[in-house]
Amino acid sequence: MGLLAAARHLVVFTGAGVSRESGIPTFRDAEGMWAKLDPLVYATPQGFRREPELVWSWYQWRRRKMGEVAPNPAHYAIAELERLIPRVTVVTQNIDGLHQRAGSSDVLELHGSIVRFKCFAGCRGDPTPVPPPLLESDELAHCPHCGALVRPDVVWFNERLPAAVWEMAAGVAVTCDAMLIVGTSGVVEPAASLPKYAAHQGAFLVEVNPEETPLTAIADVTLYGRAGEVLPRLVERIRALKS
Ligand code: OAD
Repeated sequence: MGLLAAARHLVVFTGAGVSRESGIPTFRDAEGMWAKLDPLVYATPQGFRREPELVWSWYQWRRRKMGEVAPNPAHYAIAELERLIPRVTVVTQNIDGLHQRAGSSDVLELHGSIVRFKCFAGCRGDPTPVPPPLLESDELAHCPHCGALVRPDVVWFNERLPAAVWEMAAGVAVTCDAMLIVGTSGVVEPAASLPKYAAHQGAFLVEVNPEETPLTAIADVTLYGRAGEVLPRLVERIRALKS
C-alpha cells in the first residue's frame, strides 16, 4: 500500500457496489436491478420513447429512494482521502450523488445524475436541476422551450457519455499515478476502459470488490470485501504510513 500512500494524484473509480451498503441495489448481482427489470425498456432512449410513463415513474421512484438514503463509510473514507493525498479525483458511474454528499469535492459523473433533467429532444444543451414541482410528481413533464418530453439527465445504453466529462475522466486516468477501483463489475464501456488506460501508463491499481471482476487481472492488488468495511481500514493504513 506504500505506492497508494505515496500517490500525488489518485483517481477513485466507482460503481454501484460503493453505494450497496447505503441500500441502493447494484445492477448485475442476483438481486440486482437488471435481474428484475429489462434494461432495454428502462435504460434506453428507445424504451423511453415506447413507454415514457413507465420509465419516467421508475426514475421518479429511484430519485425519491436515493434522496432517502445516506452515504456509507465507503463514501466517507473516499472523501477522507483528500486530506491524505495531494489530489484525488472521483470518477463515478453512479447517478446517486452520494460521493458529493459525503464530502468529495472533485467528482466526475460519467453516467449523469438523477437530480438533473433535460429535454428528450435535446433542444437546449445544458441539463437543469430538478424544478420543485417535478420532484413530487409521476406525471410526465414537458420541456418549457419546445414541448418535448423531459427525461432524466442520465446516460442510457446506446447513448454517448457527456463529452466534456468523458474527456476529463480519460485525461485523469492517463495522468494519475494510482487508481482505486471500487464496486464495479467493469463490464460497461467505455467506463471500464479507464483502469486499462491507467494501467497502460504505469499507474498502481488497487481494486476493492467482494468478487473477482474482469479488472482483477490488471489490478496490482485486489482487496476482497465490502467497500464500507475495506475502505475505512485502507484509509487508516494510508494515514499510518504517512505519519
Ligand atoms: P454492477 O451491478 O455491474 O456491479 C456492481 C459491482 O459491485 C459487482 O462487481 C459487485 O461484486 C460489487 N459489489 C457488490 N456489493 C459490494 C460492496 N458492498 N462493496 C464493494 N463492491 C460491491 O454495477 P456497475 O459496475 O456500477 O449504467 O455497472 C456499471 C453500469 O451498468 C451502471 O453505471 C449502469 C449499469 O447499467 C447505466 O445505467 C448507464
